[in-house]
Amino acid sequence: MNQPNNVSSARSLGEPGGYEWFEKFATDLSEQDFSICPGALPPTVFEALSRKRESLTDADYSDASIGRRFKEQRNRFVRTNRVHWLLEEDDAISSWRHWSFKLRRYLNRHLYLGLESFESHIALYEPGDFYKLHIDAFRGERNRIISLVTYLNDSWQPGQGGELVLYPENGEPVRVIPEAGTVVLFLSEVVPHEVMLTNRVRHSVSGWFRVRSTSSLLDLPRQFP
Ligand code: OGA
Ligand code: MN
Repeated sequence: MNQPNNVSSARSLGEPGGYEWFEKFATDLSEQDFSICPGALPPTVFEALSRKRESLTDADYSDASIGRRFKEQRNRFVRTNRVHWLLEEDDAISSWRHWSFKLRRYLNRHLYLGLESFESHIALYEPGDFYKLHIDAFRGERNRIISLVTYLNDSWQPGQGGELVLYPENGEPVRVIPEAGTVVLFLSEVVPHEVMLTNRVRHSVSGWFRVRSTSSLLDLPRQFP
């Protein structure tokens, strides 16, 4: 399995949150359908998400489901992690909302995507958990366009598993260590991916930039209009 050849270095692009990073995301997305940037998450956003994550108890997480609405089903052969959906009105994560809003606006201006909304959740993977190969956009609905993933884990070591593996259409699989501050973006309908079995507790935050659904079912974003 290859290492990504254009993972950005935090040193070359200035302060996380600056437009140099957004430019890097947009260029990567247009050239190769994904972007992997260690150190790209602004520290204030990381701290807010970490505090939010620390405030959650077991009861705040629900079993993840695959598919939406009437098609929702739990399938523990595919994914075993649990999730907590983040709510728009939650002041504890306002910096996450602001940063994702600025990123959405940037991607719309530079890639003409017409992204209209954002929804996100915190995911908890306990030792033994995984999420098998899948894509994030549900068939026939075409409403999740860009996936965004970041991590809240310090000092992830080789051998602890839990890597995200992306399978881009044109190119070798790419392995991502779920390390604090890394930002991953990819085209939701295009890039299959999986989370390898983790040997340690793993916290990730996944979000999706959406356009209006073409499905006839009412399928509102979970949050962030
Ligand atoms: C997802 C997902 C990847 C990760 O939530 O759909 O693929 O690394 N998450 O947690
Ligand atoms: Mn996914």
